[in-house]
Amino acid sequence: MSSLIRRVAITGAVIALGTAGLAACGSPNDADSSSKDGKVIALLLPESKTTRYEAFDRPIFEKKVKELCSDCSVKYYNADQDAAKQAQQVDTAINAGAKVVVLDPVDGPGAGGMVKSAQDAGAKVVAYDRFIEGADYYMSFDNETVGKLQAQALEEATGNKGGYLQLNGAPSDPNAAQFKKGAEEVLKASGMKLLTKTSYDNPDWSPDNAQKYVTDQLSKISPDQIKGVYAANDGQAGGVIAALKGAGVAANALPPVTGQDAELAAIQRIISGEQYMTIFKSYFIEANKAGEVAVALAKGDDVTGTTDFQGVKSFIFDPVVVKKDNVKKDIVDSGLFKVSDICTADYAAACKAAGLS
Ligand code: GAL
Repeated sequence: MSSLIRRVAITGAVIALGTAGLAACGSPNDADSSSKDGKVIALLLPESKTTRYEAFDRPIFEKKVKELCSDCSVKYYNADQDAAKQAQQVDTAINAGAKVVVLDPVDGPGAGGMVKSAQDAGAKVVAYDRFIEGADYYMSFDNETVGKLQAQALEEATGNKGGYLQLNGAPSDPNAAQFKKGAEEVLKASGMKLLTKTSYDNPDWSPDNAQKYVTDQLSKISPDQIKGVYAANDGQAGGVIAALKGAGVAANALPPVTGQDAELAAIQRIISGEQYMTIFKSYFIEANKAGEVAVALAKGDDVTGTTDFQGVKSFIFDPVVVKKDNVKKDIVDSGLFKVSDICTADYAAACKAAGLS
């Protein structure tokens, strides 16, 4: 379908179906800033239950592209954790003339077909945050180290003893396997003991699944046996804490819970003592680099400074552990959140105690 016909078809769909129809067509979510003759760059993100994608990755990337290239436009798509929808979105982007496809895949190992369609159409593919074999470039953090840092924090918080629960990310996400590998290297050699036969792989990273999983465990395990919880990200940490509180554990008696993503709600929980730590993988570093690489590729310029990661030219960044005592330095001073974002009425006292107000 030509891009003109597609655009007309999409307009019809919008009139007939409203935004639900628009999303179902795999068209850009909004803010399609395409200029007819300019360089089209597509950004495809995997889901929206984790707040980082809409709140940071997307706007930082779009701003960077705008800053570096006046005749570039960004077409943005969010797959809502649906791999088939994401494949359609890649096709839509290619038909719309995308010459660079920045892709954070829902299903990493299954993303080969999308890479091939894009490359066959002459586009370059940048695997964003999650690895894809055969991509032209890849950028992410050292994900095994993320898992190790989370697990080491749990050892530290529990005094390296007692029973724990373990909630990992989605099996379709290659990062989840790396977080788990790093974490288990530490946890299996630790003085702590997994309270279940196997750890839990959350199929879509969702907080709801995490809450349900822990609630189910609490029908078999008493809350005071749980001395710590390894949760691979903040969304899940939120679900874990809700389940524990739902089972009657007081806010000041919660076991240490890990996280990742430096979500606002998690930073507030860290300040109030409900969550032990999170991992901040700077969206500024990652999304700005993605914007730079995408613009260089769109203009046909060289991309320099890469390292090799499994045969793909890559940029691998360092994660930062965040606990109560470095929220100011690594979250506020880095520009991620303002004190006024974190220290809302419910957190005013905790903020004051933590020296944040
Ligand atoms: C991972 C990503 C994490 C988190 C998670 C949930 O791939 O590295 O930062 O966002 O997905 O979507």
